[in-house]
Order: sequence, then C-alpha cells, then structure tokens
Amino acid sequence: MGLEFVYAQPVKIYFGAGRLEALGLILEELGLRRCVAVCDPFLRPRLEALRHRLPAICELYSHIQPNPQLSGAAAVAALIREREADGVVAVGGGSTLDTAKFAAAIAYDGGEALDYFRGQRVFPTAHIPVVTVPSTAGTGSEVTQVSVMSYGSEKKTINHPAFMPKAALVDPSLTLSVPPRVTMNTGLDALAHALEGFWSRNHQPISDQMARQAIRLVLDNLEAAWRDGSDLEARSNMSLAALFGGLAFALPKTAGCHACSYPLSEDYGLPHGEACAFTLDSFVRLNADARLEALCRELGLSGAEELASRIAALKQLGGLRTRLSELGDVDLDKLARDCAAHPLMKNNPVVPDEAALRRMFEALA
Ligand SMILES: [Fe+2]
Repeated sequence: MGLEFVYAQPVKIYFGAGRLEALGLILEELGLRRCVAVCDPFLRPRLEALRHRLPAICELYSHIQPNPQLSGAAAVAALIREREADGVVAVGGGSTLDTAKFAAAIAYDGGEALDYFRGQRVFPTAHIPVVTVPSTAGTGSEVTQVSVMSYGSEKKTINHPAFMPKAALVDPSLTLSVPPRVTMNTGLDALAHALEGFWSRNHQPISDQMARQAIRLVLDNLEAAWRDGSDLEARSNMSLAALFGGLAFALPKTAGCHACSYPLSEDYGLPHGEACAFTLDSFVRLNADARLEALCRELGLSGAEELASRIAALKQLGGLRTRLSELGDVDLDKLARDCAAHPLMKNNPVVPDEAALRRMFEALA
C-alpha cells in the first residue's frame, strides 16, 4: 500500500521575542473580549505591568503549583463561569498551560472535574478558546491537545481534542530567566518529543519534518542556552525547538521513553524532563534502525550511537541523574512492570517486554 496520512494543525502560532507586548492586539484579533488569565506566580508582576494594555483580561489567577492538581483546574473553571469569560490566556510552564486547557474544556459543561478526569463524563466538543504563552522551552503544550493532571497521587496524561489551544504566543524572551537545570530538563523533554514523534509507530511525513528540525535545533542550541541563559539567539532557537517538538509528537504521540518517564516521576520524584532524559539515550540505542541511522547521518552525526553519546553528555553537563542508584531504593520489578504496562510503550518501534526493560534499567544501575 502507498503512503497514506491525515495531517491537521489547528493552532494559530505567533512567534517572536517581545511578542508578549502584543498580547492585547492578539486577543482582539482573535475576537476575545473577556478572558481569565492564568499564570505562574512569578510571572504575575509582569502581567500586572501589562494590564493597562490588556482590557480583555478580566481576572488574573496565579495559584499554580508544579504537577498541577485537579482542584486548581476546577477553581479556574469556576472563575471562568463566575466572570462569564469567553476565553482563557495561559502564561507559564506546562503546569499552567495544562491547568488552563483542562479548565477551559469543562468550564461551561457543568460537570465535576473529577468525573472528566476519571473518564466518567465525556469532554464536550465545544469549549472556550485558550491562548497559550509558554515560559519554558520544552513541553510543547502550547500546540498539543495534551493535559497532564493529578488528583492526589493519581497522575494522568489526558489526550483529547477539547484541550487543543486556539492560539499559541511563543515569546522566547520569557525563557531568559529559566535556571540552567530547568533549561536542560525541558530542552531534553523537547528532544524526547521530537525523537519519539519521529520513531513512533504512527509517525508521518509532516510530523517527521518537524521532528528533524527540532532535533537539529536542540543539538545546536541546548548547551549554549544552558551555559548562558541570557543568550537570546540560543533561547529563541530552543523555543522554536520546543514548538517543533510539540508539533512532531502532537499526532504520532510519544513512545517508550515517555512511557518510562511516568513511573520514574511518580515513584522517584524526577521532574518530567529529567525522567524522559533518564532513558532517552537507551531508547536511541534500542530503536536504532536504518531510518534512525539515516536521520543521524543527515544531522551530521556518525550514527545513532553518536546521538546517544551526545544525549548522555548533555545529561552529564546539566547534572541530571543518570543512574538508578541516585534515585534511592528502587523496586526494579515494579519499575519494569509499570513501564511495560504504560499504553505509550505500544508506540515504540521495538516494543520491549518487562524482561527487556529490566535489563535496560539494570544497565543504568
Ligand atoms: Fe514530555
């Protein structure tokens, strides 16, 4: 059978350093008149300072925590109803964007947040528009229909069209203050999105091109952005890499590396990017087929082995944890079992079973 694919990318993208200043005009262009803005606490003063030029923002909510809880999304949804908002603006990291996306999806449908989270109530097809403004370069959440949400210790990655943003405003200058460790973690998350979008069983030509570009941008710019956070060119290229990474996995979805990241985050507390990076070089080696080898050569590398070494070197440089011995008391059987059982593992080109995953982790002991 010949090549067949379906591609759609519904998010309008505004990109450029300093574009946050134009947020008011963008909201006007999108026809939004009454928006609840959700932001990371540290970004509140910056938005407050812009407030006089943002007549469409009727409320500013900044009680966002890392690993966002469902209660936060429920509170934002209540605020949206109370203020009769016609849109949501989310300015911040993945936690903020995911909270806003969840809240906007359920705000006017009337159900309990927990019922949607548990799959006992279907997300509505219509929802109020969300404008995403990422302040880190990594998650790609600005252009995806993914929301990662927790209820107590229960953490879920929910992929639903109701979460698709209307527009993304990517202003790389917002990432200038990101500390080096977060720069490295989020940058490697973007690389994982691109690689997994590329080798996912559902990959397709347009997403592949996004992945190629994202991988190249990360390899050329992550170290520079980590070394000097004020390097706007490197920051801008990393924001672009995160955007392309998001577009690269939005349709194909991620695979083995993200599958393993969830147990590593939930049971051993690794931040998302560090958890993805933990197995990324191992999966590069596992998935090193002719197609990946060809991609590596296109990128000017000798092959997949060199790509794996580059990833390992970046982890080392950033001081990321790379060994199980650094994670405390690890239950290897449970870890291998949970990773093997994660639904994303099925997207991996080579689907490792529990024993193979155990061997992979033993090599990282
Ligand atoms: Fe990710």
